[in-house]
Amino acid sequence: MMDIVYANALKNSVFDYIANAAKELQLETYVIGGFVRDYILERGKAKDIDIVCIGSGIELAKKVATLLPNTPKIQIFKTYGTAMLRYNDIEVEFVGARKESYTKNSRNPIVEKGTLQDDQNRRDFTINAMAISLNDSNYGNLLDPFNGLEDLKNKIIRTPLNPDITYSDDPLRMMRAIRFASQLNFSIEKKSLASIKKNAKRLEIITKERIVTELNKILLSTKPSIGLNLLFKTDLLQQILPELTDLQGVEVRNGQGHKDNFYHTLEVVDNISKMTDKLWLRWTALLHDIGKAPTKRFEKGTGWTFHAHEFVGSKMVYKIFKRLKMPLNNKMKYVQKLVLLSSRPIVIATEVGDSAVRRLVFDAGEDIDDLLTHCEADITTKNPEKFKKYHNNFKIVRQKIKEVEERDKIRNFQPPITGEIIMKTYNLKPCREIGIIKDAIKEAILDGEIANNYDEAYTFMQKKAKVLGL
Ligand code: CTP
Repeated sequence: MMDIVYANALKNSVFDYIANAAKELQLETYVIGGFVRDYILERGKAKDIDIVCIGSGIELAKKVATLLPNTPKIQIFKTYGTAMLRYNDIEVEFVGARKESYTKNSRNPIVEKGTLQDDQNRRDFTINAMAISLNDSNYGNLLDPFNGLEDLKNKIIRTPLNPDITYSDDPLRMMRAIRFASQLNFSIEKKSLASIKKNAKRLEIITKERIVTELNKILLSTKPSIGLNLLFKTDLLQQILPELTDLQGVEVRNGQGHKDNFYHTLEVVDNISKMTDKLWLRWTALLHDIGKAPTKRFEKGTGWTFHAHEFVGSKMVYKIFKRLKMPLNNKMKYVQKLVLLSSRPIVIATEVGDSAVRRLVFDAGEDIDDLLTHCEADITTKNPEKFKKYHNNFKIVRQKIKEVEERDKIRNFQPPITGEIIMKTYNLKPCREIGIIKDAIKEAILDGEIANNYDEAYTFMQKKAKVLGL
């Protein structure tokens, strides 16, 4: 077979340093994995580069560091026999070629030194097992024992070895297969897909953090439903987010059904992904209906109801984040808030008064635009007239919000009368009455009783203080 040469892939000067270091140490060295894959796919500038050598990756890294300008620091991971250094914003990782064998209950393999071929065998997918030589004898040659190039062309995810071995060795690869399918719009080879389903339970030995990393990458892909559907089909999603898969299915009673909230959710996630790259807004779309499974009832005369599903759903967000060991920080609060408020904007389209608008802007604060984006993504009706009407409703909502905002400045609401002013005016020490007055002022502004300015709020404070006997 003719050699395929990718010398152009090695144009980055970092490869010159690595090749020189390898030559000095007389180590056979290759660039391997994601860098090669992404170069061939023309996925843009590389953020990390994996280097494999036949020998000690740590020694090679040390040598490279001495040759590089400014001698960068290297990070050594002794247990893994790897070393990492940074060069012009690129993380370069060095490892010695290895053979790995795994035990049943751990992701940590028994490692022995090996050849390039051994190292390629242990990799997850044929498209990730390709290497390009950095050695003088065949500089730039592609070493592709499993025909990854062909799989790249045919857009197929395939394991180098029997998939049962590859997935059972490292069950995180089941998530990775699906993540790559979603990111690259590839399909997973049939045998591989069946093997993921068969090994799905093995996901339990993987840490939650790693699972979430892959889930986030799926959510950040152009069409996340590709990955989410695959996770569902292979029974992985049932283990990660059972609250979501509980939404699947349609129950019919007295001839009345409801929409399949699982597939609806996937559509909403795809919709929002066309509108924003914000990960947490995509999480909001993913979780916006989770309260519907536990609140579902059939009421005679009314049909299916999901009373307070937004409230129940927002409580579930906390439990999910906690279980998945995701940070319980302001990102979680953002998702909770948007889930809780997800049905509020539409009410405004029909309501006459401005107070509901002011209250919504107050409750959503700076996230009001994201909330509306979510609401628009939530429109999944297939009826073109309804689709148009619902979108139009949100245009009305946006307009009303704009008007109220220009007038009342409710977003990032700052009370026009502070606690200090109240204390000073009535010569008070900190006490309950201050909170009562402040709250009453805020409510009066939101209700439209007074305008959001100092003078009107001051007069209102005086009235309220009188009632309180101050
Ligand atoms: N790899 C593997 N099994 C894993 C993780 C990684 O075999 N569970 C191998 C693959 O050859 C992969 C390489 O290690 O290409 C580097 O892994 P990583 O940096 O995690 O992934 P990339 O393929 O570089 O892709 P991305 O940067 O998109 O995660």
